[in-house]
Amino acid sequence: MKKLLITGGAGFIGSHFIKYIIDNHPDYTVINVDNLTYAGNLDNLKSIESNERYSFIKTDICDAISINELMSQGIDYVINFAAESHVDRSIIDSSQFINTNVLGTNTLLEAAKTYGIKKFIQISTDEVYGSLGHEGVFTEESPLAPNSPYSASKASADLMVRSYYQTFGLPVNITRCSNNYGSHQLPEKLIPLMICNAYEDQSLPLYGTGLNIRDWIHVKDHCRAIFQVLCKGKNGEIYNVGANNERTNKDIVMSILRALNKTESLITLVEDRLGHDYRYAISYDKIREQVGWQPEIDFEEGLQEVIGWYLENMEWCKETRRRLKTYYKCIYG
Ligand code: NAD
Ligand code: DAU
Repeated sequence: MKKLLITGGAGFIGSHFIKYIIDNHPDYTVINVDNLTYAGNLDNLKSIESNERYSFIKTDICDAISINELMSQGIDYVINFAAESHVDRSIIDSSQFINTNVLGTNTLLEAAKTYGIKKFIQISTDEVYGSLGHEGVFTEESPLAPNSPYSASKASADLMVRSYYQTFGLPVNITRCSNNYGSHQLPEKLIPLMICNAYEDQSLPLYGTGLNIRDWIHVKDHCRAIFQVLCKGKNGEIYNVGANNERTNKDIVMSILRALNKTESLITLVEDRLGHDYRYAISYDKIREQVGWQPEIDFEEGLQEVIGWYLENMEWCKETRRRLKTYYKCIYG
């Protein structure tokens, strides 16, 4: 049995990844380390929580004593999903982004070095490259030019990961993925937020002109990419993960409105996000050539399937929104 330590496994992508491993790779055990912030929800893992190859430990990745204790137990691989992930929140207050995304990653790297971990994968983001104009795509050679406190904290973590490879020879990979969509995503992110609002006939707040562009990938394609990197990634390499699905935010919202049979009048153009990146687009040639991965899920079909999931799970959406509201009230008054 290979022992996999996953951090942030109660969040959106981490929980999909754990379910993917437990359901498809019987030669792996998974320890999920998550401190259950507002974004962590163990209900996301209901379908596998009693599987004997899965266990959960509530710990902060910044807690060096607990992390060292865990890694001393014969862990083979570490995949770091844990992060503060929401750009808007990093604009309100960046301190927790520095703690978790930078210092937490560093705590994991130190422990991984001490206990001779065979592979450390850092789950990063295309946002570390900054923003594109109308033309071009990000490659792994694109310079780092993060624009938000969130993306700056992720870029900082990437540089620490790189340094542990260069200085100590820690076997690392960094994956940089584009915008994910899928079930169980918090309705503070564009797609679930707009589905929930449209369902309740609330206004759909599009930032600025609504014409900013994101490059979308189904979370299940992202999970397969990470597993392929674990198996075949060359030590020290960075791999971009994308699926060539550029859409304006308005395109996305219009698709949601059509699927729910609601009118465009629900859209409200609101004040723009500070430092709002105009466009992301990612080349995934390198991961396709070196690792043999490519996306499989058609965007239009995937989006309809995911909209269907939210509509069938409106109770989950309502409960999650209640939790989010309570959280925001506690933190920001
Ligand atoms: P998420 O916010 O849904 O989940 C983050 C998880 O990390 C939560 O379960 C939370 O409880 C946990 N966590 C936060 N701080 C922690 C800490 N100090 N110790 C332990 N656990 C902690 O995030 P997500 O959307 O699933 O993103 C996962 C990773 O993928 C992040 O690193 C993010 O930067 C990256 N990423 C996300 C996307 C996307 O579109 N969502 C795209 C590319 C990369
Ligand atoms: O590109 C990968 C990144 O994608 C990840 O690293 C981040 O963790 C993840 O949160 C996501 O960041 P974005 O900022 O792109 O995602 P978000 O869903 O917040 O916004 C997507 C776009 O929609 C962005 O252009 C802002 C816009 N938007 C968002 C919200 C929440 C709106 O117009 N209105 C909104 O209410």
